[in-house]
Amino acid sequence: MSIDRTRRAALGVIAGAAGLAVLPHAALAQAKKVKIGLMLPYTGTYAQLGTAITNGFKLYIEETGGRLGGMDAEYATVDDESAPPKAVENMNRLVRRDNVDVVVGTVHSGVALAMANVARQTGTTLIIPNAGADDITGSLCAPNIFRTSFTNWQPGYGTGKMMADRRIRTAVTLTWKYAAGDESVNGFKEAFTAGGGKVLKEMTLPFPNVEFQPFLTEIAALKPESVYVFFAGAGAAKFVKDYYAAGLKGIPLYGSGFLTDGVTDSIQDVAQGLTTVLHYGDGIDNPKNKAFRSSYEAKFKLAPDVYAVQGYDAAQLLAAGLSAVNGDLAKKDAMYKAMEAAKIDSPRGPFTLSKAHNPVQDMYIRELKGRDNVVTGIAVKALADPARGCKAA
Ligand code: BEZ
Repeated sequence: MSIDRTRRAALGVIAGAAGLAVLPHAALAQAKKVKIGLMLPYTGTYAQLGTAITNGFKLYIEETGGRLGGMDAEYATVDDESAPPKAVENMNRLVRRDNVDVVVGTVHSGVALAMANVARQTGTTLIIPNAGADDITGSLCAPNIFRTSFTNWQPGYGTGKMMADRRIRTAVTLTWKYAAGDESVNGFKEAFTAGGGKVLKEMTLPFPNVEFQPFLTEIAALKPESVYVFFAGAGAAKFVKDYYAAGLKGIPLYGSGFLTDGVTDSIQDVAQGLTTVLHYGDGIDNPKNKAFRSSYEAKFKLAPDVYAVQGYDAAQLLAAGLSAVNGDLAKKDAMYKAMEAAKIDSPRGPFTLSKAHNPVQDMYIRELKGRDNVVTGIAVKALADPARGCKAA
């Protein structure tokens, strides 16, 4: 791919200028380091999510002795601030200035869409450990772009299906106005209306605003049977607290599981029983989840969440690719083939990737009990995103 040619040419110029012989291709392949660009939010509403992803990613690498495909892992890190206007510049810093071999990022769909465009132009390997923008594994799908998280459609669809199955007939939706919120609500509507539900009103506010009061007043007036929301991170915690403080307990609140993941400590006093749908739950009963949770808690003195799992699995996916080529980063086709075929032994349960490079995975029904999102059932088994517009799928 073109980035390889550019990088080799650049290395040749540097080596020539230093009076060195230009390294042959095989010698470059044997350089014993893989440079990983971490582009994630470390400030703002999604800061905690970026940290959990980083922790999960590094935990896996530590478990493999700090090495991937026989190479030492080295990092270049950028705080993307969940700011789409800065995304291209931040991605270019990693790809063109820091000359990373692979980029892992990010959380915010708007930022990730810009990253995917740069990855497509430069051929950089991109692994997305959260952002759910449907188009990335839809119309923008590409051989070098992989995701270990979800599409925004998936948990939205799972929640709509669960609510329709429970014979809930009406809902009002509320979310931030950007790709993640819009696509989450679209997924919800698709399953909810197919199951006989009716959406009375769709409400939005700009990301990352948290002035929820006017919307809560309107929900009280509309008196729907239920409310569906997409919020995440610090904004989700504030929304849940505001919802119950507004006296809306009589109108059951539902959401994709980002509403409660990573924020259970701050909402547990008001939100016991809050039901959500996601591809992870704290107490999933498999050996991998038990081992992952105990190592994570021991190392970070924190309970892990879905974001930590997705970061851990991004490292597992990269390891699968690099091991298959023995660390020879020039063998991109073989590396991608191995990543496409990988069966990831995830704490969420094993998963494989679709042809569009997005996880095919169960959507769990979870209930907040104490500080845990406890799995009580499965809304949809092995749910694959429809990957609309992806020519590979
Ligand atoms: C997103 O922007 O895609 C997103 C952010 C936080 C949680 C889930 C999705």
